[in-house]
Amino acid sequence: LLLVLFGCQSTAYPIDFEQLSEDERIVIRFSHVVGEDTPKGLAARKFAQLVKERSNGLVEVQVFPNGFLYKDGEEMEALLQGDVQMIAPATSKVTTLIPEWSVIDLPFAFDRYEEIHDYLATPAGQDLISKFDSQGLHMLGVWDNGFKQISNRDYPIYDPDNLQHLKMRIMPSDIIYEQFSSLGAIPQEIDFNILFHYLERGDIDGQENTLSNITSKNLYLLQNYLTISNHGYLGYVLLMNKQFWEDLPEHVQVLIADTLKEVSEWERETARNLNAEKLAELEACKCIDIYHLSPEEKQAWEKEFKPVYDYFKERFGTKYIEALPKYHK
Ligand code: LMR
Repeated sequence: LLLVLFGCQSTAYPIDFEQLSEDERIVIRFSHVVGEDTPKGLAARKFAQLVKERSNGLVEVQVFPNGFLYKDGEEMEALLQGDVQMIAPATSKVTTLIPEWSVIDLPFAFDRYEEIHDYLATPAGQDLISKFDSQGLHMLGVWDNGFKQISNRDYPIYDPDNLQHLKMRIMPSDIIYEQFSSLGAIPQEIDFNILFHYLERGDIDGQENTLSNITSKNLYLLQNYLTISNHGYLGYVLLMNKQFWEDLPEHVQVLIADTLKEVSEWERETARNLNAEKLAELEACKCIDIYHLSPEEKQAWEKEFKPVYDYFKERFGTKYIEALPKYHK
Protein backbone atom coordinates (compact mmCIF):
# COMPACT_ATOMS: atom_id res chain seq x y z
CA LEU A 1 0.00 0.00 0.00
CA LEU A 2 2.86 2.36 0.80
CA LEU A 3 4.27 1.83 -2.65
CA VAL A 4 0.87 2.62 -4.10
CA LEU A 5 0.56 5.77 -2.03
CA PHE A 6 3.93 7.03 -3.13
CA GLY A 7 3.06 6.45 -6.75
CA CYS A 8 5.53 3.65 -7.54
CA GLN A 9 3.05 2.26 -10.00
CA SER A 10 5.61 0.30 -11.98
CA THR A 11 5.88 -2.20 -9.13
CA ALA A 12 2.72 -1.84 -7.06
CA TYR A 13 -0.17 -1.59 -9.51
CA PRO A 14 0.69 -4.37 -11.96
CA ILE A 15 1.19 -6.87 -9.13
CA ASP A 16 -2.44 -6.55 -8.15
CA PHE A 17 -3.81 -6.42 -11.63
CA GLU A 18 -1.84 -9.29 -13.05
CA GLN A 19 -3.93 -11.52 -10.81
CA LEU A 20 -7.14 -10.42 -12.51
CA SER A 21 -8.52 -12.18 -15.54
CA GLU A 22 -10.02 -10.47 -18.58
CA ASP A 23 -13.58 -11.17 -17.38
CA GLU A 24 -12.88 -9.06 -14.29
CA ARG A 25 -12.36 -6.06 -16.56
CA ILE A 26 -13.94 -2.88 -15.19
CA VAL A 27 -15.28 -0.12 -17.42
CA ILE A 28 -15.88 3.36 -16.01
CA ARG A 29 -17.82 5.65 -18.33
CA PHE A 30 -16.86 9.25 -17.57
CA SER A 31 -19.10 11.87 -19.16
CA HIS A 32 -18.44 15.61 -19.20
CA VAL A 33 -19.61 18.64 -21.15
CA VAL A 34 -16.47 20.60 -22.06
CA GLY A 35 -13.98 20.34 -24.91
CA GLU A 36 -10.77 18.34 -24.63
CA ASP A 37 -8.54 21.44 -24.66
CA THR A 38 -9.74 22.53 -21.22
CA PRO A 39 -8.44 21.71 -17.74
CA LYS A 40 -11.23 19.19 -17.17
CA GLY A 41 -10.95 17.68 -20.65
CA LEU A 42 -7.18 17.24 -20.41
CA ALA A 43 -7.27 15.86 -16.88
CA ALA A 44 -10.01 13.36 -17.71
CA ARG A 45 -7.86 11.98 -20.53
CA LYS A 46 -4.76 11.84 -18.35
CA PHE A 47 -6.68 10.03 -15.63
CA ALA A 48 -7.99 7.47 -18.15
CA GLN A 49 -4.55 6.90 -19.60
CA LEU A 50 -2.82 6.42 -16.23
CA VAL A 51 -5.50 4.07 -14.93
CA LYS A 52 -5.22 1.97 -18.07
CA GLU A 53 -1.42 1.76 -17.82
CA ARG A 54 -1.42 0.99 -14.14
CA SER A 55 -4.08 -1.70 -14.33
CA ASN A 56 -2.61 -3.44 -17.37
CA GLY A 57 -5.71 -2.35 -19.26
CA LEU A 58 -8.10 -4.11 -16.88
CA VAL A 59 -9.65 -0.89 -15.61
CA GLU A 60 -10.80 1.20 -18.53
CA VAL A 61 -12.01 4.77 -18.11
CA GLN A 62 -13.95 5.75 -21.23
CA VAL A 63 -14.15 9.53 -21.51
CA PHE A 64 -17.07 11.14 -23.35
CA PRO A 65 -16.39 14.90 -23.71
CA ASN A 66 -18.45 17.78 -25.12
CA GLY A 67 -21.74 16.47 -23.74
CA PHE A 68 -21.75 13.81 -26.52
CA LEU A 69 -23.33 11.23 -24.26
CA TYR A 70 -25.26 13.32 -21.75
CA LYS A 71 -25.85 17.04 -21.63
CA ASP A 72 -25.74 19.39 -18.68
CA GLY A 73 -29.21 18.66 -17.40
CA GLU A 74 -28.91 14.91 -18.02
CA GLU A 75 -25.55 13.76 -16.68
CA MET A 76 -26.49 13.70 -12.98
CA GLU A 77 -29.55 11.57 -13.68
CA ALA A 78 -27.44 9.26 -15.87
CA LEU A 79 -24.95 8.86 -13.00
CA LEU A 80 -27.64 8.15 -10.42
CA GLN A 81 -29.20 5.55 -12.71
CA GLY A 82 -25.85 3.91 -13.38
CA ASP A 83 -25.81 4.73 -17.11
CA VAL A 84 -22.43 6.38 -16.54
CA GLN A 85 -20.18 5.84 -13.54
CA MET A 86 -18.37 9.15 -13.26
CA ILE A 87 -19.07 12.83 -13.96
CA ALA A 88 -17.39 16.10 -13.04
CA PRO A 89 -20.06 18.81 -13.05
CA ALA A 90 -19.40 22.41 -12.06
CA THR A 91 -20.15 22.96 -8.37
CA SER A 92 -22.83 25.43 -9.55
CA LYS A 93 -24.66 22.59 -11.27
CA VAL A 94 -24.83 20.33 -8.21
CA THR A 95 -26.85 23.07 -6.50
CA THR A 96 -29.99 21.73 -8.19
CA LEU A 97 -29.51 18.62 -6.02
CA ILE A 98 -27.78 20.15 -2.98
CA PRO A 99 -28.60 23.89 -2.90
CA GLU A 100 -26.15 24.63 -0.05
CA TRP A 101 -23.30 24.18 -2.56
CA SER A 102 -24.33 27.55 -4.02
CA VAL A 103 -22.21 29.18 -1.28
CA ILE A 104 -19.33 28.66 -3.74
CA ASP A 105 -21.21 30.79 -6.30
CA LEU A 106 -21.46 33.85 -4.07
CA PRO A 107 -19.85 36.71 -6.00
CA PHE A 108 -16.37 37.65 -4.77
CA ALA A 109 -16.45 34.90 -2.13
CA PHE A 110 -12.93 33.74 -3.08
CA ASP A 111 -9.87 35.54 -4.39
CA ARG A 112 -7.52 32.63 -4.98
CA TYR A 113 -7.87 28.98 -5.98
CA GLU A 114 -6.29 27.74 -2.74
CA GLU A 115 -9.04 29.45 -0.76
CA ILE A 116 -11.69 27.14 -2.20
CA HIS A 117 -9.74 24.04 -1.25
CA ASP A 118 -9.07 25.42 2.23
CA TYR A 119 -12.76 26.28 2.56
CA LEU A 120 -13.77 22.72 1.69
CA ALA A 121 -11.52 21.48 4.51
CA THR A 122 -13.39 23.59 7.13
CA PRO A 123 -16.30 22.02 9.06
CA ALA A 124 -18.72 23.95 6.80
CA GLY A 125 -16.98 22.59 3.70
CA GLN A 126 -16.91 19.06 5.10
CA ASP A 127 -20.61 19.38 5.78
CA LEU A 128 -21.18 20.24 2.10
CA ILE A 129 -19.14 17.23 1.01
CA SER A 130 -20.99 14.88 3.36
CA LYS A 131 -24.29 15.76 1.66
CA PHE A 132 -23.36 13.76 -1.45
CA ASP A 133 -23.58 10.51 0.46
CA SER A 134 -27.32 10.71 1.13
CA GLN A 135 -27.87 11.42 -2.58
CA GLY A 136 -26.26 8.15 -3.63
CA LEU A 137 -23.04 9.85 -4.72
CA HIS A 138 -19.40 9.43 -3.79
CA MET A 139 -17.18 12.51 -4.14
CA LEU A 140 -13.65 11.74 -5.25
CA GLY A 141 -12.19 15.22 -5.40
CA VAL A 142 -12.37 18.75 -6.74
CA TRP A 143 -10.83 20.04 -9.96
CA ASP A 144 -10.32 23.73 -10.68
CA ASN A 145 -11.19 25.54 -13.80
CA GLY A 146 -10.74 29.13 -12.78
CA PHE A 147 -12.39 32.44 -12.07
CA LYS A 148 -15.26 33.66 -14.23
CA GLN A 149 -15.13 36.72 -16.44
CA ILE A 150 -18.02 38.57 -18.08
CA SER A 151 -18.45 38.81 -21.85
CA ASN A 152 -21.00 40.96 -23.68
CA ARG A 153 -21.95 41.81 -27.25
CA ASP A 154 -22.88 45.48 -27.46
CA TYR A 155 -20.95 47.53 -24.95
CA PRO A 156 -18.25 47.21 -22.31
CA ILE A 157 -19.16 46.33 -18.72
CA TYR A 158 -17.26 48.61 -16.36
CA ASP A 159 -19.64 48.86 -13.46
CA PRO A 160 -22.56 46.84 -12.13
CA ASP A 161 -25.13 49.25 -13.63
CA ASN A 162 -23.96 48.32 -17.12
CA LEU A 163 -25.59 44.92 -16.68
CA GLN A 164 -29.10 46.35 -16.44
CA HIS A 165 -31.52 44.77 -18.92
CA LEU A 166 -28.87 42.49 -20.41
CA LYS A 167 -29.87 38.90 -21.09
CA MET A 168 -27.13 36.84 -19.47
CA ARG A 169 -26.64 33.09 -19.82
CA ILE A 170 -26.17 31.32 -16.49
CA MET A 171 -25.58 27.82 -15.17
CA PRO A 172 -28.43 26.44 -13.04
CA SER A 173 -27.74 28.05 -9.66
CA ASP A 174 -30.10 30.25 -7.65
CA ILE A 175 -27.19 32.32 -6.40
CA ILE A 176 -25.92 33.04 -9.90
CA TYR A 177 -29.51 33.91 -10.82
CA GLU A 178 -29.65 36.36 -7.90
CA GLN A 179 -26.19 37.71 -8.73
CA PHE A 180 -27.42 38.94 -12.12
CA SER A 181 -31.05 39.72 -11.33
CA SER A 182 -30.04 41.84 -8.31
CA LEU A 183 -28.22 44.10 -10.79
CA GLY A 184 -31.22 44.35 -13.12
CA ALA A 185 -29.95 41.84 -15.68
CA ILE A 186 -32.13 39.03 -17.05
CA PRO A 187 -30.49 35.68 -16.28
CA GLN A 188 -31.33 32.70 -18.44
CA GLU A 189 -30.29 29.10 -17.75
CA ILE A 190 -28.81 27.58 -20.90
CA ASP A 191 -26.87 24.34 -21.39
CA PHE A 192 -23.19 24.87 -22.01
CA ASN A 193 -23.15 23.10 -25.35
CA ILE A 194 -25.89 25.23 -26.94
CA LEU A 195 -24.59 28.52 -25.57
CA PHE A 196 -22.72 29.30 -28.80
CA HIS A 197 -25.97 29.06 -30.82
CA TYR A 198 -27.86 31.31 -28.39
CA LEU A 199 -25.13 33.92 -28.73
CA GLU A 200 -25.01 33.48 -32.49
CA ARG A 201 -28.75 33.96 -32.86
CA GLY A 202 -28.60 37.00 -30.60
CA ASP A 203 -31.06 35.44 -28.15
CA ILE A 204 -28.83 36.51 -25.28
CA ASP A 205 -26.39 39.40 -24.89
CA GLY A 206 -23.67 37.94 -22.74
CA GLN A 207 -22.45 35.31 -20.34
CA GLU A 208 -19.91 34.62 -17.61
CA ASN A 209 -17.25 31.95 -17.84
CA THR A 210 -13.60 31.09 -17.48
CA LEU A 211 -11.22 32.01 -20.28
CA SER A 212 -10.51 28.38 -21.22
CA ASN A 213 -14.25 27.77 -21.68
CA ILE A 214 -14.71 31.04 -23.58
CA THR A 215 -11.93 30.17 -26.01
CA SER A 216 -12.50 26.42 -26.37
CA LYS A 217 -16.10 27.01 -27.48
CA ASN A 218 -15.20 30.08 -29.57
CA LEU A 219 -17.60 32.24 -27.58
CA TYR A 220 -15.24 35.20 -27.88
CA LEU A 221 -15.91 35.32 -31.64
CA LEU A 222 -19.51 36.30 -30.90
CA GLN A 223 -18.78 38.79 -28.13
CA ASN A 224 -17.12 42.19 -28.48
CA TYR A 225 -16.34 42.97 -24.85
CA LEU A 226 -14.70 41.04 -22.06
CA THR A 227 -14.47 42.23 -18.47
CA ILE A 228 -11.79 40.57 -16.36
CA SER A 229 -13.73 40.58 -13.12
CA ASN A 230 -12.69 37.27 -11.49
CA HIS A 231 -15.99 37.56 -9.64
CA GLY A 232 -16.71 33.88 -9.11
CA TYR A 233 -15.04 30.49 -8.99
CA LEU A 234 -15.78 27.72 -11.47
CA GLY A 235 -14.57 24.28 -10.43
CA TYR A 236 -15.78 20.71 -10.51
CA VAL A 237 -16.74 17.95 -8.14
CA LEU A 238 -15.63 14.51 -9.25
CA LEU A 239 -18.53 12.22 -8.58
CA MET A 240 -19.09 8.51 -8.81
CA ASN A 241 -22.24 6.54 -8.34
CA LYS A 242 -21.92 5.48 -4.66
CA GLN A 243 -23.10 1.92 -5.18
CA PHE A 244 -20.69 1.46 -8.07
CA TRP A 245 -17.83 2.81 -5.95
CA GLU A 246 -18.65 0.56 -3.00
CA ASP A 247 -18.84 -2.50 -5.24
CA LEU A 248 -15.35 -1.91 -6.67
CA PRO A 249 -12.60 -4.20 -5.34
CA GLU A 250 -10.44 -2.41 -2.81
CA HIS A 251 -7.32 -2.42 -4.99
CA VAL A 252 -9.30 -0.71 -7.75
CA GLN A 253 -10.54 1.92 -5.27
CA VAL A 254 -6.94 2.52 -4.21
CA LEU A 255 -5.80 2.79 -7.81
CA ILE A 256 -8.53 5.30 -8.63
CA ALA A 257 -8.14 7.42 -5.50
CA ASP A 258 -4.37 7.48 -5.74
CA THR A 259 -4.28 8.26 -9.46
CA LEU A 260 -6.87 10.98 -9.02
CA LYS A 261 -4.83 12.57 -6.26
CA GLU A 262 -1.88 12.82 -8.59
CA VAL A 263 -3.96 13.94 -11.59
CA SER A 264 -5.73 16.55 -9.46
CA GLU A 265 -2.45 18.25 -8.60
CA TRP A 266 -1.55 18.30 -12.27
CA GLU A 267 -5.05 19.51 -13.18
CA ARG A 268 -4.88 22.49 -10.83
CA GLU A 269 -1.60 23.64 -12.25
CA THR A 270 -2.85 23.09 -15.79
CA ALA A 271 -5.99 25.14 -15.04
CA ARG A 272 -3.96 28.12 -13.85
CA ASN A 273 -1.57 27.94 -16.80
CA LEU A 274 -4.27 27.43 -19.39
CA ASN A 275 -6.40 30.36 -18.24
CA ALA A 276 -3.32 32.62 -18.13
CA GLU A 277 -2.32 31.42 -21.60
CA LYS A 278 -5.80 32.11 -22.95
CA LEU A 279 -5.76 35.64 -21.55
CA ALA A 280 -2.45 36.30 -23.28
CA GLU A 281 -3.85 34.90 -26.55
CA LEU A 282 -7.01 37.02 -26.36
CA GLU A 283 -4.93 40.10 -25.58
CA ALA A 284 -2.65 39.41 -28.53
CA CYS A 285 -5.39 38.66 -31.05
CA LYS A 286 -7.09 42.03 -30.53
CA CYS A 287 -10.33 40.28 -31.43
CA ILE A 288 -12.17 41.31 -28.28
CA ASP A 289 -12.03 44.48 -26.23
CA ILE A 290 -10.67 43.57 -22.77
CA TYR A 291 -11.24 45.60 -19.63
CA HIS A 292 -9.63 44.70 -16.28
CA LEU A 293 -11.54 45.79 -13.17
CA SER A 294 -9.20 47.64 -10.80
CA PRO A 295 -9.03 46.55 -7.13
CA GLU A 296 -11.13 49.63 -6.21
CA GLU A 297 -13.74 48.78 -8.83
CA LYS A 298 -13.87 45.21 -7.57
CA GLN A 299 -14.58 46.50 -4.07
CA ALA A 300 -17.40 48.64 -5.41
CA TRP A 301 -18.88 45.64 -7.28
CA GLU A 302 -18.58 43.48 -4.19
CA LYS A 303 -20.64 45.93 -2.14
CA GLU A 304 -23.47 45.72 -4.67
CA PHE A 305 -23.86 42.03 -3.93
CA LYS A 306 -24.88 42.33 -0.29
CA PRO A 307 -28.50 41.38 -1.19
CA VAL A 308 -27.22 38.13 -2.73
CA TYR A 309 -25.45 37.23 0.52
CA ASP A 310 -28.62 38.15 2.45
CA TYR A 311 -30.63 35.90 0.16
CA PHE A 312 -28.26 32.99 0.88
CA LYS A 313 -28.38 33.65 4.65
CA GLU A 314 -32.17 33.69 4.65
CA ARG A 315 -32.23 30.25 3.09
CA PHE A 316 -29.29 28.51 4.77
CA GLY A 317 -28.35 30.53 7.85
CA THR A 318 -24.88 31.88 8.52
CA LYS A 319 -22.85 28.69 8.93
CA TYR A 320 -21.61 28.38 5.34
CA ILE A 321 -21.08 32.10 4.83
CA GLU A 322 -19.19 32.72 8.04
CA ALA A 323 -16.59 30.11 7.11
CA LEU A 324 -15.71 31.98 3.89
CA PRO A 325 -12.09 33.19 3.82
CA LYS A 326 -13.09 36.84 3.36
CA TYR A 327 -14.41 36.87 6.93
CA HIS A 328 -11.14 35.53 8.31
CA LYS A 329 -8.60 37.89 6.79
C1 LMR B 1 -20.63 26.00 -17.95
O1 LMR B 1 -21.72 25.44 -18.07
O2 LMR B 1 -20.42 27.16 -18.30
C2 LMR B 1 -19.49 25.24 -17.34
O3 LMR B 1 -19.96 24.61 -16.20
C3 LMR B 1 -18.97 24.22 -18.27
C4 LMR B 1 -17.90 23.43 -17.57
O4 LMR B 1 -18.16 22.27 -17.25
O5 LMR B 1 -16.83 24.01 -17.36
